[in-house]
Amino acid sequence: MRDRTSHGFAGLGDLEDSAAHTLPPALWDYVQGGAAEETTLRENRRAFLRRTLRPRVLVDISEIDPTTTLLGSAVAAPFYVSPTAYHGAVHPDGEAGTARAASEAHVLAAFSTLSTASLEAIATAAPHGPRWFQLYLQPEFASSRRLIERAEKAGYAALVLTVDMPVVANRDRQSKAGFALLESPPLGNGPEIVGPARGFVPRGSTFTLRSETSSGWDVLDRIQSVTSMPLVVKGILTGEDARTAVEHGARAVVVSNHGGRQLDGAPASLDALPEVVAAVGDRAEVFFDGGVRRGADIVMALALGAKGVGIGRPILWALGVGGQAGVERVLSLLKHDLVTTMALTGRRRVSEIDASLMGTPHGG
Ligand SMILES: Cc1cc2nc3c(=O)[nH]c(=O)nc-3n(C[C@H](O)[C@H](O)[C@H](O)COP(=O)(O)O)c2cc1C
Repeated sequence: MRDRTSHGFAGLGDLEDSAAHTLPPALWDYVQGGAAEETTLRENRRAFLRRTLRPRVLVDISEIDPTTTLLGSAVAAPFYVSPTAYHGAVHPDGEAGTARAASEAHVLAAFSTLSTASLEAIATAAPHGPRWFQLYLQPEFASSRRLIERAEKAGYAALVLTVDMPVVANRDRQSKAGFALLESPPLGNGPEIVGPARGFVPRGSTFTLRSETSSGWDVLDRIQSVTSMPLVVKGILTGEDARTAVEHGARAVVVSNHGGRQLDGAPASLDALPEVVAAVGDRAEVFFDGGVRRGADIVMALALGAKGVGIGRPILWALGVGGQAGVERVLSLLKHDLVTTMALTGRRRVSEIDASLMGTPHGG
């Protein structure tokens, strides 16, 4: 019998199942669900399953080094905790537990505007980070500005502006499950903080949305005029937008379709990655998230040009099942799986993971 007792799951293979049996059904559907028919959500995984790696053999792999730097922060591995909302609804350890687990593992973690703990409490829980703050633009720029200033003061190393949610998508699974019950767990960053607009209001023959959430690219300039934290733009799927973000001073972009939760019909993130990498060149770092579950996925995203790879749902699964200890365990399992894949592909360092590692697709 395998040991599940200390963390609630034995390995990466049973984590999702364990979480499905642990979290209340409506919360589970909130975490798992995507937009509309969940085509993009499914494709995020399929994009990895289609691809193959070209391993090199008889390489001296007696020492494997998975360390790297992400926007100047030295980290133990090229993956990071993607920002996700409401950790406190998933487990009482909440964001503080996630932050401590990541920091102890020297893994970078990003925390959402919609955290259940305040951004200051998260910083206190894991003072050494490294930590990024994810911003959802507030209806008034003054409120966004206050959040930015608080994050800078609390020592966050970068500001991640999420741009793929001008309005929340229709999430059928979530609505069916009645996640509305959970729609307002207390928000740690203050009662005035609001999430992205939930829908349009009809006005005559058109539809209107709350004011400043529909800002244009100049919001990037405005943000940089009030902070010296490097700006990361999350939710980019085209070369055009990546180029524009960099022209407006973004130091990094995150290729992401929000884990299939926003535009259903958007490409799998992995399929969008090469276009963005080509557009950005060496002018900024390119990060990636969507569907990453194993070490081989991390290696594929790096081989296609990502500098860092974000993990969304698996962190929430592990937190739900085992609290802080669960997150510690999943980070350690992912690192081990990554190191094993590096060894099996003959790559000793992250810098050796390059395009020559990508093979022809299965059946291709
Ligand atoms: C339950 C849940 C909540 C999320 N909340 C946020 C959020 O508050 N801010 C944000 O930028 N992205 C959010 N995301 C998107 C993640 O940062 C990330 O893009 C996505 O989860 C990656 O896909 P994966 O879950 O397949 O790893 C959320 C994702 C999930 C599953």
